[in-house]
Amino acid sequence: MKAVAVIFAFLSTVLLVAYGILIYYDNHFPFARMWETPGVWPHEEPLLVMKEGVVPFSGGEAIYRAMSADQIKSPIPLDDPDHILQGQKGYHLFCAQCHGSNHDGRGTVGQSFAPLPTDLRSEEIQGHLEGELFKDISYGEPGKRQPPLATTIDMETRWQIIAYVKSLGVRP
Ligand code: HEC
Repeated sequence: MKAVAVIFAFLSTVLLVAYGILIYYDNHFPFARMWETPGVWPHEEPLLVMKEGVVPFSGGEAIYRAMSADQIKSPIPLDDPDHILQGQKGYHLFCAQCHGSNHDGRGTVGQSFAPLPTDLRSEEIQGHLEGELFKDISYGEPGKRQPPLATTIDMETRWQIIAYVKSLGVRP
């Protein structure tokens, strides 16, 4: 009987010490813990309902891709100052890294291209139809290096950027 009590006392001590070490280790753990990041409980949020028009059942981008450039007309007035201002913001978000803040192709990324990205204030580009600019920016051109941005920039912002680019005029 005495032996059982001794073994029991011994085991309890071992367990207590192990528990103490674990707690000490846990309290002094130097790295971030998974449970410190806020939990996301998607099933407790109301279900997201897709905005109307996100999945087009008719029309959508496909019709513009199929149309020829001279048939594509801007849905916004390209000389509207508000749109031009929005377009300037869009340009600096989506284009300036390549085409540069001077629109000459010497952006942070663009400068390492050879040849440089097209000068957007050249006579050629400024003489482009709005539909041509829209197609270039949206879908790129096969074999060329302009990235197709139709799935990156929404349609209205693309037109606003075109309004901005056109407002710059030919480089004096
Ligand atoms: C990843 C870099 C990059 C980004 C971002 C970019 N471009 Fe370009 N872009 C280029 C390059 C490179 C060319 C030259 C194409 C070639 O000659 O192969 C070009 C060409 C063009 C052209 C001339 C197309 C033609 O007919 O040859 C236009 C217009 C243009 N870009 C407008 C824009 C606008 C507006 C944006 C922003 C919405 C934009 N680009 C974003 C790199 C870029």
